[in-house]
This record gives sequence, structure tokens and C-alpha cells, in this order.
Amino acid sequence: MITSFTNSLFHAVIEVCSALSLRANHECGPPSPQKSSVSSLTDDLWARPGPSGKPNSLSTFWSTIDADTLTIGQSLTDGESLVSSGGSFRLGFFRPENSSSRYLGIWYGARVPTQTIVWVANRGAPISDTRGFLNLTREGILALSDGGRNNNLAVWSSNVTRRPGNNPVVAQLLESGNLVVREAAEENPDNFLWQSFDYLTNTLLPGMKLGRNLTSGLNRKMRSWRSGEDPAEGDFSVLIETEGYPQLLVRRGAAIQFRAGSWNGLRFTGVPALNPSPTFSFEYRYEEGREVFFRFGVPNNTVVSRYAISPAGLLQLLTWSSRTGVWIVIATGQGDRCENYGLCGTYANCYTYRAPACQCLTGFSPRNPGDWGRSDWEEGCVRRTPLACNSSDGFIMHSRVKLPNTAVTRWNRTIGLAECRMLCLGNCSCTGYSSLDISNGESGCLMWFDDLIDIRELADGGQDLYVRMAGSEIREVVPEQGRPNRRRKTIIVIASVISSSMALLVILGILLYARKRKLKQKETLKTINTPLPRIKSQKERNEELDLPTFDLSTIVEATNDFAIGNKLGEGGFGPVYMGKLSEGQEIAVKRLSKSSGQGLNEFKNEVILFSKLQHRNLVRLLGCCINDDEKMLIYEYMPNKSLDFFIFNETQRKLLNWQRRTTIIDGIARGLLYLHQDSRLRIIHRDLKASNILLDKELRPKISDFGLARTFGGDQTEGETNKVVGTFGYMSPEYAVDGLFSVKSDVFSFGVLVLEIMSGRRNRGFYHADHDLNLVGHAWTLWNEGAALGLIDDSLNESCNQSEVLRCIHVALLCVQQRPEDRPNMSAAVLMLGSENPLPQPKLPGFYLRRNPPEADSSSSKNINDSCSVNQVSMTVMEPR
Ligand SMILES: *[C@@H]1O[C@H](CO)[C@@H](O)[C@H](O)[C@H]1NC(C)=O
Ligand SMILES: *[C@@H]1O[C@H](CO)[C@@H](O)[C@H](O)[C@H]1NC(C)=O
Ligand SMILES: *[C@@H]1O[C@H](CO)[C@@H](O)[C@H](O)[C@H]1NC(C)=O
Ligand SMILES: *[C@@H]1O[C@H](CO)[C@@H](O)[C@H](O)[C@H]1NC(C)=O
Ligand SMILES: *[C@@H]1O[C@H](CO)[C@@H](O)[C@H](O)[C@H]1NC(C)=O
Ligand SMILES: *[C@@H]1O[C@H](CO)[C@@H](O)[C@H](O)[C@H]1NC(C)=O
Ligand SMILES: *[C@@H]1O[C@H](CO)[C@@H](O)[C@H](O)[C@H]1NC(C)=O
Ligand SMILES: *[C@@H]1O[C@H](CO)[C@@H](O)[C@H](O)[C@H]1NC(C)=O
Repeated sequence: MITSFTNSLFHAVIEVCSALSLRANHECGPPSPQKSSVSSLTDDLWARPGPSGKPNSLSTFWSTIDADTLTIGQSLTDGESLVSSGGSFRLGFFRPENSSSRYLGIWYGARVPTQTIVWVANRGAPISDTRGFLNLTREGILALSDGGRNNNLAVWSSNVTRRPGNNPVVAQLLESGNLVVREAAEENPDNFLWQSFDYLTNTLLPGMKLGRNLTSGLNRKMRSWRSGEDPAEGDFSVLIETEGYPQLLVRRGAAIQFRAGSWNGLRFTGVPALNPSPTFSFEYRYEEGREVFFRFGVPNNTVVSRYAISPAGLLQLLTWSSRTGVWIVIATGQGDRCENYGLCGTYANCYTYRAPACQCLTGFSPRNPGDWGRSDWEEGCVRRTPLACNSSDGFIMHSRVKLPNTAVTRWNRTIGLAECRMLCLGNCSCTGYSSLDISNGESGCLMWFDDLIDIRELADGGQDLYVRMAGSEIREVVPEQGRPNRRRKTIIVIASVISSSMALLVILGILLYARKRKLKQKETLKTINTPLPRIKSQKERNEELDLPTFDLSTIVEATNDFAIGNKLGEGGFGPVYMGKLSEGQEIAVKRLSKSSGQGLNEFKNEVILFSKLQHRNLVRLLGCCINDDEKMLIYEYMPNKSLDFFIFNETQRKLLNWQRRTTIIDGIARGLLYLHQDSRLRIIHRDLKASNILLDKELRPKISDFGLARTFGGDQTEGETNKVVGTFGYMSPEYAVDGLFSVKSDVFSFGVLVLEIMSGRRNRGFYHADHDLNLVGHAWTLWNEGAALGLIDDSLNESCNQSEVLRCIHVALLCVQQRPEDRPNMSAAVLMLGSENPLPQPKLPGFYLRRNPPEADSSSSKNINDSCSVNQVSMTVMEPR
């Protein structure tokens, strides 16, 4: 409060001062060319002493009328900045965190208060002090000088794409974040001599093209920073490769890291999630010989968004959350193992949720069966039967896949699949074909002339790929042309085969179903033993071997031999003790129920992987302790217990004012988003509830027990075979009733949790004299009566902000909708919470009636049993995007 007041006071002072200095200059002759048209970066006044010889003083503040342009002869010095006309972007000098070097760059204006650099001029040529300045020459060249002895030697300069005429030129920072050089008198607003949008750094802004001008050869590609502190060019680039049919790649040096793939008329073939939405629009154009580009837009500027390639090579779509003041990752490339380029080698299909991940295509077998067995799939698969190279060859269709690398392809937009097939058959080196464009049905022809690599299964949004095979590998009867009799026979044969196999299928289905029910218990164990995603490089492998382990004696000492006084509680997977290591660090020790049905190696692997999950809203796993059949997990200790202790307690919840509660809701949402989308593992929590949210010293939330569902999903302790993961009151209908779970079941639990946080009431055990509804049903009723504010607990009334409260309830109701497909995913939920965009109306929620399930207290992690028709868990925890 006080700070912002001081700030506005300061700005008022600045305005008065600049007005004064403006007048002063009118009175005392023309302004010195050095200073006009440039507004100073006020924050920098506080941050830094002025450059040597040019002390910062208020007299450096100038008219802000033309503050977005620099004219010939003017200089932009360190400490000054150009501001685009609407204030969205700034150009000036900055110093990266932890670095002493200075760079000229562009960052966001007022909408993003945390300085976020979107473009850097002198990436590889840092300036060591604050004497640097930028000027514009008569030829339209922007020259950056370090102000040192080589005053005339530019450390960086722009390259004119076109010589100007005799007209004066100006440099201007546009609202889009584009720094352009143009003739001052130029009528066409898009006719630039030079623009920064042609020279991307690590960021793709809305409206910026990623791609190539195929006439001039200009390649607009992103290039990562070397590190968070060094904007020099790093290893990773994002570009549209134009060798073969154009495709979007992330490269590390020359090697392909991730292949988003070719554009199929709707999206890049490997990125099914790239769908236009009210928030984002996507554009792709490919005109042979002229240009190819991709760009995205944010219609109506509802959010501040950008794509960025991180120093570690992750391509991410980020959105600024003004409410929480951080960048939120909305989508990440390379999120699952099948997004590692070539993981499965040639002629193999990659499955995210199966073990093993890679399977040879039909008719192919591993090139090196030994390696393949050891989960080293890189060498891929080879044909069992060589191609005959005559008309006896045929094709096998693989549906719903990501199309392979298109580096060696030919294509024709005008012909259809039938002709495509004939063309491919007619050339011995053609290995497969598919449609080129699926935006209006299917059209065009794309043919491969190389081994097929980087194919993956995509349940949503995959395409059909036809792979050339020797005739003998194709079991189907291929009807021959020109012999009607035979053809008819074939059809009859096929028809009867089909009908009898249908009958067979039905019978089989019934048998399988019955069997499946019996096998459920066994399947649970199988799921647990699913191998982990393969870790690629040897370096990574070595890293992984550093299993953070603790000696049993250390733990015994730390917990006073598991003294009852140290016991914090009983979690779903065993008791939890508080402990203190000899160095003074406090820890929480979770002693796992004896036999989990899981091998020691798998357990270790899980622990290593989970210990790598790091997010400020996840409880940190420090390591484990393994001794005979004793397995323990060691976590950081959270002094403030769990959320249920606060919100369901009359006095404690007074400590949580509205501000704190929104921080908690946002934190939970972000932690969950990280689990679902951002971490390498794609984890579904499955047991999200108030007692699994721990609070740190500052009452910030940390999700606990994530991934345990995966490790200990079955928890088959003898005599207690009916434990499943999940807690009544938080479980979505499809999970509780059909045992189906997905990220959307976590979203449901999140919605329930939000309602509980706002109301201070438990969903289960909720009682209201007027009706038979639980908290979800109660909230839904109030919402429809326009009385949603009646939901919040009394202790909030003073501190709350009504519109924020309504928005939270609205989002919660969207999360608990009956149908999983209606619920938002976590990235959408985070966006909804963080912005002011209009939201859709919620539909009927799931499980809104109070029911009387078998007695179990929802606060402790009691689990449900078979009698309530909840399946034994038989699915994996990872989930397709
Ligand atoms: C602009 O920079 C160039 C090269 O750094 C230098 O030669 C020239 O004198 C500068 N012009 C002004 C007006 O500072
Ligand atoms: C400037 O452009 C010319 C011709 O387009 C090119 O040859 C030269 O390498 C470019 N220089 C820089 C620094 O980009
Ligand atoms: C590609 O570059 C050339 C030469 O600079 C230019 O004339 C042409 O307009 C550019 N093409 C597109 C589509 O921008
Ligand atoms: C700066 O240094 C601190 C401490 O070493 C580190 O935590 C932080 O991540 C660094 N910042 C960047 C951008 O690398
Ligand atoms: C953007 O604004 C226009 C007119 O102001 C409106 O018609 C359109 O629906 C808006 N689009 C979105 C996505 O909000
Ligand atoms: C195709 O080639 C194979 C092997 O070269 C041969 O056995 C077969 O008869 C040929 N088929 C036709 C239809 O030409
Ligand atoms: C595409 O196929 C049509 C019909 O066969 C042909 O006329 C045309 O030249 C082909 N186009 C290309 C680019 O090969
Ligand atoms: C088959 O395709 C390859 C690769 O495009 C081409 O080089 C070759 O000339 C073609 N062969 C025939 C017979 O068309």
C-alpha cells in the first residue's frame, strides 16, 4: 500500500519535472540531440548509479510525446528507454540476474512488472559497464557502441534489408514488441528497412513469424539463451526445417531433439494439443518457393503470452498471471518420453503409456533384439520380408499416429490417396504415404523415400499412415483388378470372415470381460511393475544413480526410534514421523506399509524420479531409507501441518484471510499443473484432498503424496486387500463408479477442494437442514439462485473481494462438472483463475447428493473398499495429453 502510494507520488513528481524541463528547454534553446525523444527508465534510477560522466538527474527526463522513436543523430543511453505507444514494451539496457554485463534488449511494459526479456541485440557481445549507447545512422543502421575507447566501433549493428532513399529514417518500438527502422515519411506501416522480428532470440511473441522467406533465405528461428544469466546463443534452436516437406523442429546443435512435425492443415502432426481456442489463434502458411511460417495470436489481447525456448531446451507456451505475478507454463514440448526424437528408431511406434514404450510396426522386428530387450530402442526395427519392388507390394495402414520425419519426401497437393498409393507403388524407394492435409476431409499426397522414423501413437489427433510392405506380409486379401468373378468371390469371403469374426469377437469380449473382473487384483500388481520411462543419455543415467539414501540408524536417531511422541499422523501408505537430523534439519519420515508388491529396484527408480520433481508447490522428497523389508521416504518437514487442520477448524481458519486462501488455491493449482503437464512423469495424483495439502512457514501450500499413488497404487498388505487410492467426497463420478481416472479426475478433486477452502466445510459430511445435498450440490444450488456469495465462511466476509470470490466459485463449479470432457484441464483452470476473461456457464456437477457410503472419515485417509463398486486400481498413472 505504502509502496504503491510512494510510487505514484514519485511518478507525479516525474511528470511535473519533465514538464518543467520541457519548458526549460523551449526557453533555453533547442534540446541537445542526445536526449530528445527518449524517456528515462524510472526504475533504473533507483537501481543504479548513473553512468560515468553522465550523472542521472531529473533533467534527463524528456517529453514522452515521441517516446517510442529514435531519430538520426539521437542516442539511447544506458538508463533510458523507448516505450511503445501503448506502453506494452520497452527497449533499453538491462543486466541479467547474477550477471555484471549489460545488454540492449526489449522487455514487457507495465502489464508484466517482472522484467522479462523478449529480445536481445548484442547477445554475444556484452557491454561491461553503463557507458553503452545506441544510435541511428543516416543509412538506417542501428549501431550499439560500448562507449569505451572504441567509441566508433559498434559492438552490434543492425543490417539494413533495403537501402533508404533520401528521406530521413527513424527507429520505432511498436506495440507488438517489434523494433523497426523505417523511412519517417513512409505511408505503408509495414514497409520496414529493418525489423527485430526478423531476428528472433529465445522468444516468439504474438504476431511474430517463425519460419523462412524462401526467396531471400531469411531464416527466422528461435535460439535459446546459454543460461538464465547469459543471453549468448545456447545449444537449442526452434525452426521450421525446409529440407523435404517443412516441419517444426527443436534442435540441439545439429541433432534433432524434438519434432513437432509437419503441418497437416489443422496443426503440427505431433502436437495434438495445438488447437485454436478463444484465447489463442494459430496460423501457418506454406507457399512453395516463397515462404513458410508459423505464428500465433492472442485475439483481443486477453492474456500476455509468449513461446520461449528455455536454456535446457524446453519449448514452452507461457502466460502471465497478473494476479499471482508469475509466468505460468501452459504447454510444453518434450513433455513425455515419446517426444524424444527417434527414441524408438526406425519403423517403430512409440507408446507413452505402455511397456515397453517402443513396438515394431507390423511386419518388422528389432534390428538388434538384445538391445531392444534392454530397452535400448534407438536402432529401431527392420523388415521381416524384403520388398519385392513390383506390384505385389502393398500397404498396411497405421491409424492415429504422428507422421514420421518428412526430411526425404515428395508431395502433391492436388491428387488424392488412391493416386498417391499408385505413385508410391510405382517407385521402388517409396516407403509409405499419407494425406497431406486433413483440414477438409483428406486431401493431397505425401510420400516418404527413406526409412520411417519418429512415429508415435496419438490417441487424439493422430493420422493414418500407409507403410509399404511385401505382399506376403499383408494378410488381407487384395482384390485384383479386372477379374470381376474373382473379386466377387473375395468380397463374399471377406464378408463371411467379417461376420463370423464379429460373432467371435462378441464371445471373446464377454469372456475377456469376465476374466478381467477376476484378474483385477493381479492387474494391480502388474501396473506397479510397469517399467519407467527410459532415461536416455549415459550422463543422465549416472546422475540418476545418486540415490539420496539415509541410513536406518540416522532415521532411528532422528525420530527417537519412531517414538510415539514423534508421530505426526497416519497417511494412506503408513505412519508419518517427525524427525531432526544431527545437522538440525527437520524431516518427515513416511514409513511405508511392509510389502507393496514392488521390487526394490522399481522402488528405487521411483524414488529417484520423484526426488527430481521440484516445484515450490510440491513437498520435496529428500530421499529414502531401505533396510530389509523396511522402506521409508524422507520429506522436508512442514511445520504448519495440513490444510484440513486450518480450514475445518473454527478458530484456525480465521488465520486464513482471503488473500491467504487465494494464494493457497493458486499454489495447489500450479502444483497440480506441474504434475500433469510439466514434469517428465505426467502424474495423476488421484488422492488430492485437504489433508494432502501441507502448509509451510508462510502458509504456502505444498502438495504431498503425489506419485505415491503410482508407487503404492495397490498397497496390497496381506489381509487388507481392499485398499484403493482415493477418498470419498473428492472422487469424480467416473473414477468412483467406473474406476476410470484421468487428469480430469484430479481436476474434479481440485474443484471440491476449492469449494472447501472457500466455505470451510467438508464436502463429505456436509449437512444442511433444507436439503439433501453435499457441499458441491449446495454450491450449485446457491450459484443458480444467484446467491453464491452465501457459500463463503463467515470469517472471510471482511477480507474478501467479491468478484474474486465469485470467480473462484465459478471455476470450482466448472471443475466439478459431471462430464469429464466438460471440465477444464489444469492449465485452463489456472488461466481462468488468473485472468478476467469470461467463463462458460457450469453444467450439472457430479456427485452432488449427500449419500451414505460405508462409514469412513474423509479427513483421515481411510480408503474405500470393494463393496462400493469401486474397482481395484488397474490403470497406470500417466495419462495422454
Ligand atoms: C553513432 O555511432 C557511430 C558508431 O558507433 C559513431 O560513429 C557515430 O559518431 C555515432 N553518432 C552519434 C550522433 O553519436
Ligand atoms: C547483412 O546482409 C548482407 C546481405 O543481405 C549479408 O551478406 C550480411 O552477412 C549481413 N550481415 C549481418 C551482420 O547479418
Ligand atoms: C522475401 O524476401 C524478399 C527479399 O528481401 C522480399 O522481396 C519478399 O517480399 C519476401 N517475401 C515475403 C513473403 O515476405
Ligand atoms: C542467480 O544466483 C542464485 C544463487 O546462486 C540462483 O539461485 C539463481 O537461480 C540465479 N539466477 C539465475 C537467473 O540463474
Ligand atoms: C474480440 O472482440 C470482438 C469485438 O470487440 C468480438 O466480436 C470477439 O468475439 C472477441 N473475441 C474474443 C475471443 O473474445
Ligand atoms: C514380384 O517380384 C517377386 C520377387 O522378385 C516375384 O516372385 C513375383 O512373381 C513378382 N510379382 C509380380 C506380380 O511381378
Ligand atoms: C500433381 O499431380 C498432378 C496430377 O497427376 C500433376 O498434373 C501435377 O503436375 C502434380 N504436381 C506436382 C507438383 O508434382
Ligand atoms: C523414385 O524416387 C526417388 C526419390 O524421389 C527418385 O530419385 C527416383 O528418380 C524415383 N524413381 C523413379 C523410377 O521414378
